[in-house]
Amino acid sequence: MKNFKILWVIICVLLLLLIAIMYKFIQGSVAVSDDERVAVVLSKDERNLILGEMRNFLVSTQKISEAITNDDMELVAALAKSAGMEAEKNTPGSLLAKIPLPMKTLGFATRKGFDQISADAVKLRIPIHSRRQLDRLLNNCIACHASFKIVAEETGQ
Ligand code: HEC
Repeated sequence: MKNFKILWVIICVLLLLLIAIMYKFIQGSVAVSDDERVAVVLSKDERNLILGEMRNFLVSTQKISEAITNDDMELVAALAKSAGMEAEKNTPGSLLAKIPLPMKTLGFATRKGFDQISADAVKLRIPIHSRRQLDRLLNNCIACHASFKIVAEETGQ
């Protein structure tokens, strides 16, 4: 009988631990912010890495738009591919763990959206279709920027 009690205590502790890990995974590393957005707290280097990726996003968007205007579908495909999931392979797992689940979901959906633009550009070769895809994808940029910001954690130095 006593052994059962100990077993139950162990099970409860493990369950609580599991819930805490899942909560952390979903919530990420966040802090209260002075505006209506969620502040994601990252190290200085992690923040720089993400902001660099963001500037690449803007460059890719401009170049893809111009390539669509010029009917250069091969270029559209190549540019969109490099902004797709391929670009995610250098993102460290430790950084991904700090990003709240809804932001990660939106981020990956955006990468996959670029992959879809790339695939359709060579398969369908219809510039107006690519243009509509890009127009729609830009709503992901707007949605994420409206919800999240990145702050660098205090290092105490
Ligand atoms: C999953 C979320 C997310 C998506 C999707 C996203 N961004 Fe961002 N972006 C951010 C966050 C968070 C910041 C930092 C904003 C802040 O701290 O105020 C940012 C910042 C930026 C910056 C500023 C970079 C700098 O050096 O300060 C640019 C430019 C940018 N994003 C472009 C884009 C473009 C273009 C897209 C779409 C193709 C996009 N972003 C999609 C989250 C996202």
